[in-house]
Amino acid sequence: DIGRRQRMLDAHKIAAEFYREQLLTQGAAAGRRFLQDRGFDRAAAEQFGVGYAPQGWDGLLTHLTGKGFTQDELKLTGMFSVSANNAQRIYDRFRGRLIWPIRDITGDTVGFGARKLYEEDQGPKYLNTPETSLYHKSQVLYGIDLAKREIAKSRQLVVVEGYTDVMACHLAGVGTAVATCGTAFGADHIKIARRLLSDDGSGGEVVFTFDGDAAGQKAALRAFEEDQRFVAQTYVAVEPSGADPCELRQAKGDDAVRGLISSRRPLFEFAIKASFGNYDLSTGEGQVNALRHAAPIVARIRDVSLRSIYTRELSRWLGMQFVGEDQVARAVATAARKGTGVA
Ligand code: GTP
Ligand code: MN
Ligand code: MN
Ligand code: MN
Ligand code: MN
Repeated sequence: DIGRRQRMLDAHKIAAEFYREQLLTQGAAAGRRFLQDRGFDRAAAEQFGVGYAPQGWDGLLTHLTGKGFTQDELKLTGMFSVSANNAQRIYDRFRGRLIWPIRDITGDTVGFGARKLYEEDQGPKYLNTPETSLYHKSQVLYGIDLAKREIAKSRQLVVVEGYTDVMACHLAGVGTAVATCGTAFGADHIKIARRLLSDDGSGGEVVFTFDGDAAGQKAALRAFEEDQRFVAQTYVAVEPSGADPCELRQAKGDDAVRGLISSRRPLFEFAIKASFGNYDLSTGEGQVNALRHAAPIVARIRDVSLRSIYTRELSRWLGMQFVGEDQVARAVATAARKGTGVA
């Protein structure tokens, strides 16, 4: 009910303020150093409401209890863990970590992302709020509150991998950047993107950036499986060095981040070229092998005119020296009949 939801929102707002104040304390020196090393000044930290969760077990617990929240209410917020040997005892979930408040599109804080500051600290690098009545990770896009206007105006939405990448993009002038929080970009995110990009859901572009590892690339290819109309508007921007936007900004500055987004290519082109693997396209054998991997991908494009465009593109990318356009078209048609999956 509404009263209960408001209590949850209030608890999150107070917690976000608590964490933000903690970032200014002596105990948070490592947190401030992390931000500084990443190229984030105080104004940047404030814009994103970055905070610090102190080391102890009950800093936030004591604070929120003092504000009148009951143990039962606090349990529902996801900000606390329940003691293994005493279910009556709860303690701060986030300890000794940098905190990013995760806000919904209206700017209300609905959860937190928390990064550890030392490799040797226990737990995963990032801890997020678990599923609560406010926080559904499949629907959350970090940065959406700050990006929504620019997304609608420029009809572009940029998906990066992490909180620090969203910050780096916005500071570099890419104000359309958002990130999923510890989950792949899925059907719910596609719906949100559609709604923001255009009234009828048909226009605009979504640009994915990935760092070097394969996980992010898999995520975009899954979007390809998920929703073909969406995928036709989907682009990929990959930094050859494997750097993510935060690292890129640290190493090469704001222009390089904007340049990365400008270098975007359509997802189909990206997926097809990625399927070429390491084949040597200057040889007939290499072209035939590359074609064998790429044809099923093109075959999965259901839109007939789009499929014929990419069939032609495929032969161009292969070089056409040994493999002719008609041969490419036959390979795609055969793959379509077999219904072969994406490699
Ligand atoms: P930074 O050092 O913080 O810049 O991270 P990174 O660039 O090495 O992180 P990576 O690209 O692996 O991860 C980007 C995003 O993935 C983070 O912002 C998190 O949302 C998520 N993520 C990374 N590691 C973890 C983890 O251990 N657990 C969870 N739940 N999410 C993670
Ligand atoms: Mn949920
Ligand atoms: Mn990664
Ligand atoms: Mn990073
Ligand atoms: Mn990264």
